[in-house]
Amino acid sequence: MTGPTWLFGYGSLIWKQDFPFLDARRAHIKGWKRRFWQGSHDHRGTAEAPGRVVTLIETPGEPCYGRAFLIDPDVFEHLDNREVNGYERHPVEIHFDDGQATGIVYVGPVGNFAWLGDAPADEIAAQILRSAGRSGKNLDYVLGLAKALRELDVHDDHVFDLEQRVTKSRSAPLA
Ligand code: BEZ
Repeated sequence: MTGPTWLFGYGSLIWKQDFPFLDARRAHIKGWKRRFWQGSHDHRGTAEAPGRVVTLIETPGEPCYGRAFLIDPDVFEHLDNREVNGYERHPVEIHFDDGQATGIVYVGPVGNFAWLGDAPADEIAAQILRSAGRSGKNLDYVLGLAKALRELDVHDDHVFDLEQRVTKSRSAPLA
């Protein structure tokens, strides 16, 4: 990478920007869906009691909406350290309202060491409610992501369903 590069954000990047960027735009990528199927041993859980954070699952025909950031290449060093837990950089075509660009997205591939995969929605919600790591409660990750998606005018059934479950069960714990 020799100059500013677009980075597609679909998880913590869209609501936690502790990195400099030159531009930011609502954007989407094609053929991927967002799922809380990645374990977090660091930011939102521990190695013994992992939390759950989002990764991308290849799904032909499915668009995933988020926010793209134009960043200088040295910012990737900071992000590689921040997001190290099983994620890898992946080249991707990023679509804007008025065009497209080749960029990078972080993906926790199926089977990586922190991979958790699918589970019944109430089990995912219960795991999130009991998990916390060095960046805080797993619950705050879900609420922060849902809020940021709403602000971008993005609807995501998986995220909003989970938001509802964790919000409801804060007063009435899940079985
Ligand atoms: C993101 O918000 O795009 C992101 C998700 C997981 C790891 C790194 C970045």
